[in-house]
Amino acid sequence: MNLPKKGIGESHGKIILLGEHSVVYGEPSIAIPFPAAKVTTTVTESNHNTRIDCDFYHGLLDDMPELLESLKETIRVCLTKLNQLNTPLHIEIDSHIPAERGMGSSAAVSVATTRALFNYFDQPLDKAELLKIVDISEKIAHGNPSGLDALMTSSPKPCYFIKGQDFQLLDMNLDSYLVVGDTGVTGQTKEAVESIASQLTQKNSEIVKKKISQLGELAKTGRFYLENNKGIELGKNMTAVHQLLSELDVSSPELNNLVQTALTNHALGAKLTGGGRGGCMIALAETPEIASTISQALLDAGAKKTWIYEMRGN
Ligand code: PMV
Repeated sequence: MNLPKKGIGESHGKIILLGEHSVVYGEPSIAIPFPAAKVTTTVTESNHNTRIDCDFYHGLLDDMPELLESLKETIRVCLTKLNQLNTPLHIEIDSHIPAERGMGSSAAVSVATTRALFNYFDQPLDKAELLKIVDISEKIAHGNPSGLDALMTSSPKPCYFIKGQDFQLLDMNLDSYLVVGDTGVTGQTKEAVESIASQLTQKNSEIVKKKISQLGELAKTGRFYLENNKGIELGKNMTAVHQLLSELDVSSPELNNLVQTALTNHALGAKLTGGGRGGCMIALAETPEIASTISQALLDAGAKKTWIYEMRGN
C-alpha cells in the first residue's frame, strides 16, 4: 500500500547574544539556536488549489493577506525553483516561536517551509540555497536583513557571523544560564532598522557610527569571554550593549524595565535581543538558582513568558 506523500521541514528560534543592528553594518555578531521554540512545516497533497494552515491564516495561498507576504514569497520562490507552481499542496505550519519577539520567527517559518517543500519533492537543498531563498523573503519582512536570522534558525550550533562572510561555529565554554524574557509587546525590527539607517543620514551620524563600532567591539571581546568561561565579563558586555542600543533608540520602556529587574536580581548582565522596540530581553545568570530568581522577578515585573537556557553543552 502506498502511503500518502509527505514533506517535513523543521527549524527553531534564535537568540542574538551580541551584535544585533551593528551586524547590518558589517560588524560581528554572536547568536545561538533556541531549540525551546520550534517550527514544523508539513506538506501533503491537496485536491484543489494550494492551501495554507498556520496560526495566522487558514485559506488559499492566492488569498493570503499582505501581513504574510514574506511566507507567500518563500512558497512562490520554492515552487518556481522546483518547477511545481501548478501542483496543489496542503502546507501546514506549526510554530512555537512567538511572532515578532526578536526570536527570528519569520525566518524560522521560511526555513521550515523551504525544507518541507524540497523534502516533499525529494529534491536536495544545500545550505547556500536555503539561505538564499530565506533571504528573499526576509527582505520583505525586514527591508535590509543581515542574514543572521536565516542562518541561526537553520543552524544547530552557536555562530559568529559577519554579514557577507562565511559564518564560524562557536564552542560555547560558559558555566552560565541565560534567562529569556518576553515583554509580550510586539517588536518592531523593520522600524528599528530603518531608524538607525535614518540616523546615519543625519547631522550626528559620526556619533551613531561610533556606537555601531562599539557594538562590534563588544561582540568581538564577547566571543573571547564566551569561549573562555568568563561570565562576569560577558555580562558586562551585554549590559553595555543594552545601553548603546537604548541610545540608538531601539529599546522600549518594557524592555528597559525587564533589563533593570534582571540586574537588580543579580544578573551578570542583561540586554534586549533582536530588533528591539518590544520583543524579548535576555539576562545572564551565574547559577540555576539565580536564573530561577531572575525568571520569577521578570514574570512579577510583567514578562509574559520566560525561558531558562543552559549555555554549556549547546
Ligand atoms: O528581530 P529579529 O529577530 O528579526 O532580529 C533582527 C536582527 C537585526 O540585527 C536587528 C536585523 C538583522 O537583519 O540582522
